[in-house]
Amino acid sequence: MISAETEPRIADAFTAAGQGQVLRHLASLAPRARAEFLAQLAEVDLPLMARLIAGSGDGKTDLSRLAPAPYAALGSPTADARAHGESLLRAGKVAAFTVAGGQGTRLGWKGPKGTYPATVVTGKPLFRVFAEQIAAAEKRHGCAIPWYIMTSPLNDADTHAFFKDNNWFGRNPADTFLFPQGTMPSITLDGKLMLETPGSLAVNPDGHGGAIRALHHSGALEDMKARGIVHLSYFQVDNPLVRIADPVFLGLHAHSAGSSGEMSSKMVAKRDAAEKVGVFCDIGGKTGVVEYSDMPAELTGATDASGRLRFNAGSIAIHLISVEFLDRLTAGDFALPFHRARKKVPYWCDAQAKTVEPAEPNAIKFEAFVFDALALAAKSLVMETARVEEFAPIKNASGDDSPASSHQIQSNRNGAWLEKFGVRVPRRANGDVDARIEILAETALEADDLADAALPREIGAGAEFVL
Ligand code: UTP
Repeated sequence: MISAETEPRIADAFTAAGQGQVLRHLASLAPRARAEFLAQLAEVDLPLMARLIAGSGDGKTDLSRLAPAPYAALGSPTADARAHGESLLRAGKVAAFTVAGGQGTRLGWKGPKGTYPATVVTGKPLFRVFAEQIAAAEKRHGCAIPWYIMTSPLNDADTHAFFKDNNWFGRNPADTFLFPQGTMPSITLDGKLMLETPGSLAVNPDGHGGAIRALHHSGALEDMKARGIVHLSYFQVDNPLVRIADPVFLGLHAHSAGSSGEMSSKMVAKRDAAEKVGVFCDIGGKTGVVEYSDMPAELTGATDASGRLRFNAGSIAIHLISVEFLDRLTAGDFALPFHRARKKVPYWCDAQAKTVEPAEPNAIKFEAFVFDALALAAKSLVMETARVEEFAPIKNASGDDSPASSHQIQSNRNGAWLEKFGVRVPRRANGDVDARIEILAETALEADDLADAALPREIGAGAEFVL
């Protein structure tokens, strides 16, 4: 609680920083609202905000020394890696980690994105998809895979309620750990902090990079250490095809010469030069991700002698991160850099006496990106995976990366798994599967799990099929 003496100090600090406009309704707030607002203001790191507003301290990569990052290409031998990964799983050293604190504004779903119905026939919500996959992996490897989920202060209560209402998806509630990430004030395009209501600042979750700090502050990292967890399987809430705790990836990450075992990543070959994904690059001798918007155009389109994109390693935001690495990162006064993005941020309009939803971007949000931690790993490995196997993101309401495109990719992947075992699957001229096919995690975590399954000979054109 803010004491009577600290109140003027907080107000003075905002005034001195040129941000006194946020105090304009302070005097008219009821005592409780006033105390809550002052507590929010006290949390703001004004010197950091001043640096970010001035344009320093934000995450610009030095792009003068970029080369394509090396990676373990599809088809590399995997038997040893799989054996290593499976032994880590059996020993209970692996946890799952979902970042689910985003606002999902592009999709426009009212509610946490993890509650979005994602699968192609049964419409299972994303959180259920992951819970069932984790449960199937636990069963297969005879271990517990604790699941850590980062929410944000904006969706934490709704996410908790969803897990509770769904009886924790049948898993032991003690093995699921939800915790909120931090927030950052949004600013106007001319550098002023904004009010969302007379008694609250407009803030946004501090980016998926906020995960590193939040894992530490929430006690999640301590909880992992107490359980003997060594590696975290990191993934985003919007990709129903992610292979959680993939044994091959785990083995490569933990045991190969190209990796320090601190932080590894999966990539897919970019669809074309224009695809809007970050690209794995060698940045002055270290592997990192350069955002598509930051890549110089001549590099984005550059091809090699065989006509392939030189910078073709698209990031799909799937990582393995060691607990020791996270511990090291959070030991001192560490923070990832912040990136700025122009966004639409609801703000309090005095003239209309209400919170206004702007039609156009009106503000800057500051967000940290988890892949900036790659530069801090001694040696970071990138593994190629097939797009159809593992990447069906749901970001937009329609078009690319939408529920419709995700459904198609899910059916394409599941169709290919069935075809591997001789099932005739209808396909359209463009190669897409012409049926809606869902395969449950308890049936198969990967194609070869279907070897002993009872399969039909054929799927009819336009049919729905759940296995
Ligand atoms: P996106 O970059 O797709 O952002 O997040 P978003 O907020 O979900 O969606 P838009 O841009 O508003 O439409 C990628 C992943 O990172 C998580 C998201 O929940 C998603 O899993 N994320 C993003 C966080 O956990 N925290 C954040 O502050 C931002």
